[in-house]
This record gives sequence, C-alpha cells and structure tokens, in this order.
Amino acid sequence: MSHIGLDIGSYSVKACQLKEKGGKYSVVNFGVLDISEELTEAMDPAQRSLLVLNAVKRVLSDNNIKGASLSLSVSGEQVIVRYIKLPYMTKEELKSTIRIDGEQYVPFNINECVLDFSILGEIMEEGQRKIEVLLVAIKEEVVNQYISLVKSLGFDIGVIDVDCFALQNAYEAVYGVKEEEVVALLNIGAKYSNINIVEGGVTVYSRDIPYAGALLTKDIARELACTFPEAEKIKRETGGIIIESEETKLTRIPSKDDKKIRVYGAMVPTINKLITEVRRAFDFYESSAKKKSIAKIVLSGGSAKLRNLDKFISERMKLPVELFDAFKDLEREDAEIELKLKESGLYAPVSFGLSLRRPK
Ligand SMILES: Nc1ncnc2c1ncn2[C@@H]1O[C@H](COP(=O)(O)OP(=O)(O)OP(=O)(O)O)[C@@H](O)[C@H]1O
Ligand SMILES: [Mg+2]
Repeated sequence: MSHIGLDIGSYSVKACQLKEKGGKYSVVNFGVLDISEELTEAMDPAQRSLLVLNAVKRVLSDNNIKGASLSLSVSGEQVIVRYIKLPYMTKEELKSTIRIDGEQYVPFNINECVLDFSILGEIMEEGQRKIEVLLVAIKEEVVNQYISLVKSLGFDIGVIDVDCFALQNAYEAVYGVKEEEVVALLNIGAKYSNINIVEGGVTVYSRDIPYAGALLTKDIARELACTFPEAEKIKRETGGIIIESEETKLTRIPSKDDKKIRVYGAMVPTINKLITEVRRAFDFYESSAKKKSIAKIVLSGGSAKLRNLDKFISERMKLPVELFDAFKDLEREDAEIELKLKESGLYAPVSFGLSLRRPK
C-alpha cells in the first residue's frame, strides 16, 4: 500500500509518493504547488486553511498521487524542540515523568501539548550520571488541525513529524550515514530556514531560523516599489547573488543590469542575517563538548534555487556547499516524470523524508 509524504509549507505544498519493493524505494510521483501568489501569513486563518486545502487537493490530483495514508510535518512556532539534560533514568521512567521534567522548557501549557522524546545518550556531569534528551512538543490544537485535514482528504494519518527531522531522514536515505561525519542540513523555505546539524546519524542541533524566501521577496518589493507577486516573479526570473566574476562584467555595462544589481542589493541584508544565524548555530555546536567540525552544508528548499546562493554561503561560511537532490539515486516508476524530478530535487527533501516514514 502506498504512503504519501506531504510538506505543507508557508508558501507551497509538496507531495511525494514512493513505492517500496524488496526494501528498495522507487518514486511514483512528486508535486509542488504554491498555496497563493500572495503571502498568506496575514490572512484570516479560515481563508488560509481553505487555500491550503485547495492546494493540497490540486497537488495530489494534478500529479496523480495516491495512497492510503499520509504523513506530514510541522515547523517554526508550531513546535518546540529542546535538548535537555536530566538525572539518569530509564526510558520507561522518563515516559511517566516527561510532563513534569519538560514543563520548564515548553513556553506554553504543557498539558495542551503532544509530547515526544528521545534519549540521545548518557553523560557524566559534576559527578552525576545524566541523560541527554531531545524533547519535542507540539500544541494539541495544531495536531488536531492536521488530523482533521488528513481525514477530510480521506486518508489515514501516518506520522506527524518535524520538518528538521524529516529532512534528516531524507538525507540519510539518499546519502547514507557516515559515523564520523558532521553535516549541516539547511532547508531554506519561505518563512523559515530549517537547520539541522547531524553527527553520525544523530541530530545534535536543530533550529528554525526566521529568515527565508518571503523576506527576500519583501525586500525586492520594497526596493522596486512593486507588489509581492511581482517581486516574487522578478526574484525567480532575474534575482540572484552577483558573484565577483559577474560583478566585473556588470561594472562595464551598468545600465543594462541595473535592476539585477538593485534586486541583489535589496536581498543582501536578509541573506547576511541568515548567514549570521547559521554561523551562530555552528558556533553553538562546535563549542559544545563534542568539538567536531562541520564538514559541509547540504542546501535545500525552494529558496536554494536562488542563483548563486550556494556559492555565496560557501564563501561566507568557508565550507563546501552541496545541493540536496532527494531523487538522485531513486528508480522512477515512469520515465516521463524525469524532468519534473530534476527540477524538484531541492523542494523535495521534507516530503520525501515524510514519505519514508511508515505509520506504526
Ligand atoms: N527560482 C527561484 N529563485 C529564488 N527563490 C525561489 C525560486 N523558486 C522558489 N523560490 C522561493 O522558495 C520559497 C518556497 O520554498 P519552499 O517551498 O521550500 O518553502 P515552504 O516550505 O513553503 O516554506 P516554509 O518551510 O518556510 O514554511 C519561496 O519563498 C519562493 O520565493
Ligand atoms: Mg518548508
């Protein structure tokens, strides 16, 4: 039976259907669709929900994506992810005390949250045996909204995951786990840039940074005094980072590429803020007890399509930057979807990671 991974972002919805045979996956189909041309964050929640529902229905039907169950994920302010240290106890013991132990780390009423945790390891600190715990809290209200969305679409609910973890799941499925390697997965979407630092298959740090594509579009709209949809079009068609070799060319013919320079200039402060936050995350990880250095950044998300963004980040972070291709090694059920998959590899990691998760 087929299972669908659905990534409902703030700007676009992505759906992925895989087929499993003999422990190997092949991709049946993938689709991505913008929820609206306009930014939906300021909209009335009922209006936004309707747009999301319509986009989900269309992305499934337009791409002939079918399945019995569906998994989805949450991110940003919808979820709290914390790494905490607690006095040593077993998994069973923690299960019964997590609501009390976790309370101080969750900024809203813990009794109105769905909790999950994972014990990452054991440490000795100040002569005390402790456990390192990854705590995840999602508001019950948010979980219920997603469950009713899935039900209204006629599917069984699979797993409700977190964008960052689905991203990691996808990375490991495509690129494998190397025990000694530390990589930073950076998924730059519209509202958030999800960062996940993975060490030998374990998430050691994750965060959603509130700088991403929608702010870049707003920067362009402000600079060119145009509407959000117009700026979005300009960003996709002519936007991009001007790297040094291009800069030299541009100084010779300034009038022709004037708009390009203005668009680039308008986006730079936001991109710099994002890079500062990424660096902060790296510093936090590298200054922790483990002290391993990050080998590379693997970039994904719609905003990773911004021309030369990979080169820019690589230069600033002084690290290799690779583009995530979720469909790199997967067999295709139908050769006709090849072109679509080629263009969608960057969008796909979260929905692909979700489609790998089977309902328990
Ligand atoms: N060719 C392109 N060049 C630059 N940006 C692009 C391009 N194509 C899409 N984008 C940007 O990608 C973003 C959407 O990416 P994505 O679908 O990963 O985000 P999302 O999952 O909807 O958002 P989030 O996860 O932040 O809630 C939009 O901001 C869009 O402007
Ligand atoms: Mg996203």
